[in-house]
Amino acid sequence: IDRGTPAVKSDKQVTLEIDGRSIRVPEGTSVMRAASQAGINIPKLCASDMLDAFGSCRLCLVEIEGRKGYPASCTTPATEGMKVSTQTSKLAEIRRGVMELYISDHPLDCLTCPANGHCELQDMAGVVGLREVRYGYDGENHVFAKTKEGEINLHFAPKDESNPYFTFDPSKCIVCSRCVRACDEVQGTFALTIQGRGFDSKVSASQDNRFLDSECVSCGACVQACPTATLSEKSLIERGQAEHSMITTCAYCGVGCSFRAE
Ligand code: FES
Repeated sequence: IDRGTPAVKSDKQVTLEIDGRSIRVPEGTSVMRAASQAGINIPKLCASDMLDAFGSCRLCLVEIEGRKGYPASCTTPATEGMKVSTQTSKLAEIRRGVMELYISDHPLDCLTCPANGHCELQDMAGVVGLREVRYGYDGENHVFAKTKEGEINLHFAPKDESNPYFTFDPSKCIVCSRCVRACDEVQGTFALTIQGRGFDSKVSASQDNRFLDSECVSCGACVQACPTATLSEKSLIERGQAEHSMITTCAYCGVGCSFRAE
């Protein structure tokens, strides 16, 4: 089970109430993780228990008694006596609104998408009960968004197929930053970054290089972290049969794993 944020070690325990259930967790544990331990799964997209909480997708908002607004449960630490609600009609409305914005800026090609059936965006659309999207998508490689100034055309950058092992398709990116954080926190390569703001924000590899020309070491941490098909492994059919192969030893750590390089 992915509990959304990493486990915390602390000698001090706190007791809080989530949806009427009392739960005791180490001090510093996120509300999201505490809820998960109590069997309550809060919708999420940017959180993963492999990565530090980031709070960018705004899907995991909750209500906390005595606190104004709707804090993100992934970035809010559990405190003694806290009373949290994760399932109210207001939260359901907010989550549907957030998901609607994500889907309005996303190709509607689920049936032919490589992530169909294991896409977290698809799953979350179902979890929050999204039934309709009020903004337009033209079915090609761009969407139209309605603004006060009229309709604007949002062009997506083309796919980056340069890496032999995976494809980067920015049209499917929700800019959750999981790939960037995996590259930094898991791999320590710092090859990826988020550029721009709003509709212009995008993941880029080493200052807008193609993946193959960037500092990416093809470790696959970003592919594993991606909740959609933005970063997806190439199949053998796409890659083609290798012309040569050799057994080599990975130099990354001291374990000395051997693998076949093609
Ligand atoms: Fe908490 Fe994304 S999961 S803001």
